[in-house]
Amino acid sequence: MRIEGRIVMITGAARALGRSHALLFAREGADLLLVDSCGADGPYPLAERKQLEETAHSCRGLGSRVVTAVADVRDPEQVEAAVSAGIEEFERIDVLVNNAGLLAPGGVLSHQLTEEDWTKVLDVNINGTWRCCRFVLPHMVERRSGVIINTASTGGRVAFEMYSNYVASKHAVVGLTKALALEYGRFGIRVNSVSPSTVAADPGLDTASTADVARRLGSSLEEYERGSSSHHPLGRLVTAQEVSAACLWLAGEEAGGVTGTDLLVDGGFTAR
Ligand SMILES: NC(=O)c1ccc[n+]([C@@H]2O[C@H](COP(=O)([O-])OP(=O)(O)OC[C@H]3O[C@@H](n4cnc5c(N)ncnc54)[C@H](O)[C@@H]3O)[C@@H](O)[C@H]2O)c1
Repeated sequence: MRIEGRIVMITGAARALGRSHALLFAREGADLLLVDSCGADGPYPLAERKQLEETAHSCRGLGSRVVTAVADVRDPEQVEAAVSAGIEEFERIDVLVNNAGLLAPGGVLSHQLTEEDWTKVLDVNINGTWRCCRFVLPHMVERRSGVIINTASTGGRVAFEMYSNYVASKHAVVGLTKALALEYGRFGIRVNSVSPSTVAADPGLDTASTADVARRLGSSLEEYERGSSSHHPLGRLVTAQEVSAACLWLAGEEAGGVTGTDLLVDGGFTAR
């Protein structure tokens, strides 16, 4: 039990990486505030309420106390209400994992993005990350303790073509992470980010984003995964569980000296 008794808030927890994080944190003894927009309009189908409840059910089965909250990270009132629901139940939030993110529309040159395409991705990926920090940090500052893990991407360290809104938003997440680490270290709060490369599809986690990227680039999921694997020195894609393990390590005491860093889980993709 590497994180026993800690209260962990995870956004985008209904499926995929968010579900994987929730399951690992539950297995390692955490209690959870699981947040998702559940069915909000997206450029591709986002998770449903049923999937958030499935994640919660599985975590309870692992012994975790779980509160779920439907909140869109683009909406300050909804984020504030979700944080309040967690504080009411648990009295504190020890760890915030900002995982909710959008990767869309994809496959278009930057000038072909509409104002809405640009704004929506920035609003979820960077503004939403800041917004969740904004409402959780006062509680952490009061307790002089806390850990924040933001989700960047290899797209936050290098650029991909045809996803300029995503690349800009994830570079911003890395910058925000460093700025928060500088500001909040004095309060005993550590802030880091994790940067996955393309994560292998996993039906047990209801993953959807890699399949959507493949579709937009005109490939099947299998073709896309095979092609992408060949760009990774490990010769394969990383798994959701490997990304969750990095988050768990960043959240725990073993990483007590680590703040302001971006931890790549990319199979060596950016080492070239
Ligand atoms: N999957 C990958 O290959 C990969 C690689 C690098 C980085 N990432 C990042 O990891 C994170 C999770 O990615 P994923 O592949 O699991 O995505 P996903 O689309 O499968 O899951 C994202 C979750 O966030 C929720 N969500 C979306 N918009 C929201 C909003 N406005 N408010 C609240 N919840 C919202 C969705 O409903 C969904 O449950 C994202 O930040 C993504 O950019 C993913």
